[in-house]
Amino acid sequence: MPEVRDVMWTEKYRPRTLGDIVNQADIVERLKRFVKERSMPHCLFAGTPGTGKTTAATCLAHDLYGPDVRKNYLELNASDERGIDVVRTTVKDFARTVSMAEVPFKILVLDEADSMTPEAQQALRRTMEMYTNTCRFILACNYFTKIIEPIQSRCAFFRFVPLRADDVKGRIKLICEEERVEITPKGMDALVYIGGGDLRRTINTLQAASASSTTVDEAVVYRISGRVSPRELKEVLGEALAGNFNGARERTIRLMVDYGLSGLDVVKQVHREVLGMQVSEKAKLQLLDVIGEAEYRLLEGGSDEIQLNALIAKIALLAGRA
Ligand SMILES: Nc1ncnc2c1ncn2[C@@H]1O[C@H](COP(=O)(O)OP(=O)(O)OP(=O)(O)O)[C@@H](O)[C@H]1O
Ligand SMILES: [Mg+2]
Repeated sequence: MPEVRDVMWTEKYRPRTLGDIVNQADIVERLKRFVKERSMPHCLFAGTPGTGKTTAATCLAHDLYGPDVRKNYLELNASDERGIDVVRTTVKDFARTVSMAEVPFKILVLDEADSMTPEAQQALRRTMEMYTNTCRFILACNYFTKIIEPIQSRCAFFRFVPLRADDVKGRIKLICEEERVEITPKGMDALVYIGGGDLRRTINTLQAASASSTTVDEAVVYRISGRVSPRELKEVLGEALAGNFNGARERTIRLMVDYGLSGLDVVKQVHREVLGMQVSEKAKLQLLDVIGEAEYRLLEGGSDEIQLNALIAKIALLAGRA
């Protein structure tokens, strides 16, 4: 295990070219065509975090411009509080000069575009129109519904989906080999579970876990990420469902202390477990109902202990009735 770990693996292992992007095959295909034809429309990249939106934009630019990428590609963060005026002047300066002969446009990426107010988006739309001859915009966002219609209709739409477990595992394996990290199969599964299709979170958790333990196993992954292992949680749920209130209650408290969780963390994870549980449809609906209530009360400021006790009590009661 190397002593110094000051490089972020997410950056170190960020793909540099479209061919290295995993998953998102349709998207990569379409972007490669842009490169081949040296022509592209404005684009809207939407999807959950850590699925490759920013990466796809930089890879596209690299493949299009090669060594000239720095002159022709600019990333701005739209959530920057300096707002639309900065975007406007920056775009003006950037887009004024035409790039190189082979690629007759520059690319400007506006990250987190969904954080812009509708008014700022209107201004952006005019800017996009004004410079459309010399500049293509790529707007990246998590929620495309927050992007105003007129902008949506001017952009080609790309939906980034959470990465598949196999692809995530392939990436983890590659990084572990490069960094000489030992990882157990269960540790690998735990990383996939924690990441939930978000590769950034997966890689960050892997890096943190490998810094704190020579072997990355299940226990270390869950400890690092402040999450209960699904196995332990299933056991607690099993006890509650068997009507053993006291047992379930004690174990829940122990989990919270051991993993440093809030009541809300526990409720969220219980929710995730219940969704995947093999019980009757009716039992599942009843469980989801009481979990939803617990979440609401906790968000409203209810006490962790009282609300978790209430949740376990309700689950135990449901079990008694079933
Ligand atoms: N499809 C992918 N292929 C390979 N690596 C990926 C992919 N998606 C994400 N990554 C890895 O995760 C890191 C974060 O990805 P990226 O910055 O592209 O996410 P994003 O979709 O822009 O997320 P956000 O919505 O939070 O901005 C990258 O540095 C890269 O290491
Ligand atoms: Mg991004």
